Formats: sequence, C-alpha cells, structure tokens
Amino acid sequence: MAKQKMAHLSVLASGNGSNLQAIIEASKKGEIPNAQVALVVVNRPEAFARERARREKIPELFLNPQDYPDRETYFARIITELENYQVDLICLAGFLLQLTPNIISRYRGKILNIHPALLPKFGGKGLYGQRVHEAVLAAGEKESGATVHFVDEEYDHGPAIIQKRVPVLAGDTAQSLADRILTEEHKIYPQAIRLVLEKLMGKAL
Ligand code: GRF
Repeated sequence: MAKQKMAHLSVLASGNGSNLQAIIEASKKGEIPNAQVALVVVNRPEAFARERARREKIPELFLNPQDYPDRETYFARIITELENYQVDLICLAGFLLQLTPNIISRYRGKILNIHPALLPKFGGKGLYGQRVHEAVLAAGEKESGATVHFVDEEYDHGPAIIQKRVPVLAGDTAQSLADRILTEEHKIYPQAIRLVLEKLMGKAL
C-alpha cells in the first residue's frame, strides 16, 4: 500500500503561541493524523511562539515586515518559504497582520484562522486580543466563544469550520473570559485542522 503523504502545516504567529503548542501536541498524539508542523513564521522577534518551535525542533523564521517595501512583497517572501517547506495548510494563530491577496489566492481554502469570539459577532479590524472580550462584556452578552474559519480577503470573514460557545459569567473580566475561551481554542483548532486535512488529503494536496 502506498505510504500516506505527511501533510505539512505552517503556523503563523505574533505572540505567545499557545495555539501553536496545542497544534503541536495534537499532531504528536496522532489527533491530527499524518500531519506535522513543518515551519513556524513570526513577524515579531520577541514572539514566544519562536521558543516553542525551537523546543520542538521545528524550523522557525522571524521575518520583519519593516524589511520589505510593502505588504505584498512581505507576503511574497512568506510564500517562497512556504513553498520551500512544501506547506499544505497554513494556520494563523494569533497572527496580527492582515494577509494580502497574493497569499490568499495562492493558498485559497488552505488558510485557517482562530478568533476568540462567535463570528460574525465581535470580529473585524481592531477587534483582537483583549479588545474582543472587552467588547463582548460591554455589550452585555450572555455567551461568547471561539471560531475557526477559512481566511478570505475580508478580516475575520471566511466560512466557519468549528465554533465553540462558552458562557459569560457574572463578574467576568476580559482576562477571565479570555482564559475560558482559550482553553476551548486549544481543543477546537486541532479538530478543525483535522477536518480540513481529511478533505484536502482526499484530493491531491
Ligand atoms: C488567541 O486568543 C486567538 O484566538 C487570537 O489570538 C490569541 C492567540 O493566542 N487570534 P496564542 O498566541 O495562540 O496563545
């Protein structure tokens, strides 16, 4: 029987990288079968995601947007790296730059993002990190959650793959709500990757 091809994931991150860690752990445990994180790309030198990648002996690359004349050129460089590593699926995990059309069209249907709210609510430009949870609390919502979705040209917009609801509790702060949601993010991101890979692996990657 032909050996199944290992899917190559690339995680793009800007910060702590706890979702990166969850994806790595899930692939090590076989919860994302036949997949490995082949490359981690960060846009900020201090992103702890780099350290996580190094500890796991996964290639990591810091690319500084300021070294490029414009965003398209920056993402063209990222595309070159993704092609070098034969990346099949891109996972944005706390990556704070908006992707440009060149990378979105090159990898259409193969870029996922996770957002800490129930999209389409509380998404869009400016709504990231603690701001999302502050907005949810200010609106008096009874529930929030997390969404894994495909990335398209609009911010926080592409079709949802998995959503998980969590309650907003009396006395919640943005931090306590963020923590409750993050725990669920770590479960649903690997699940969503598995679902998408099952479809992609059916076709020629
Ligand atoms: C997560 O809350 C994710 O939903 C959002 O940014 C945060 C990243 O956290 N897009 P981490 O870097 O994965 O710990």
